[in-house]
Amino acid sequence: MDANDVSGDIDHVLLSKEEIQAVVKDLAEQIDRDYAGRDLLVVGVLKGAVMIMADLARALHSHVTMDWMAVSSYGSGTASSGVVRILKDLDTDLMGKDVLIVEDIIDSGLTLSWLLSNLRSRGPASVEICALLRKPEAAKVEIDVRYIGRDIPNEFVVGYGLDFAEKYRNLDFVGTLAPHVYA
Ligand code: XMP
Ligand code: MG
Repeated sequence: MDANDVSGDIDHVLLSKEEIQAVVKDLAEQIDRDYAGRDLLVVGVLKGAVMIMADLARALHSHVTMDWMAVSSYGSGTASSGVVRILKDLDTDLMGKDVLIVEDIIDSGLTLSWLLSNLRSRGPASVEICALLRKPEAAKVEIDVRYIGRDIPNEFVVGYGLDFAEKYRNLDFVGTLAPHVYA
């Protein structure tokens, strides 16, 4: 069975495989331009950013090192609480480094807002954010995001790293989940 044969679970496609490729290429061009001649540490936020990290890193021409963090929001339900716990920290010392946080999606912005101040406290030369997706209507805090792939409506989405109960991360597109899946 084809890995993407979950059509019954998907309500509609927001970003096709081809659209994601174009968005990632565009992000990589902006980043290459901004960091020309500098070394860049890209920090992927597990697990959702695995796909965008893999594609973005390969699209970049800059000198890049990669590291990973895993964080979890305290609190119940699907809504982010803003209180964040580090499940896996970086292996890299950030002192003097140019850091780019790579995220799958910005919803309330609470997780990234916390992560930004946490990483900034470690003495890096700079910290910027790149996110594939953003839900502007869901924002609870203002964060300065340098690189945004696509703004999307305030709907729960899966695919290309994004999951529902750990499923659908392997889809090569981003789509909304059909209501019957939640039930
Ligand atoms: P906040 O609200 O702190 O949350 O910006 C960001 C994190 O919440 C997860 N998230 C989603 N995951 N589909 C998902 O699969 C979604 O529509 C969605 N919205 C938020 C995600 O882990 C993100 O890093
Ligand atoms: Mg995430």
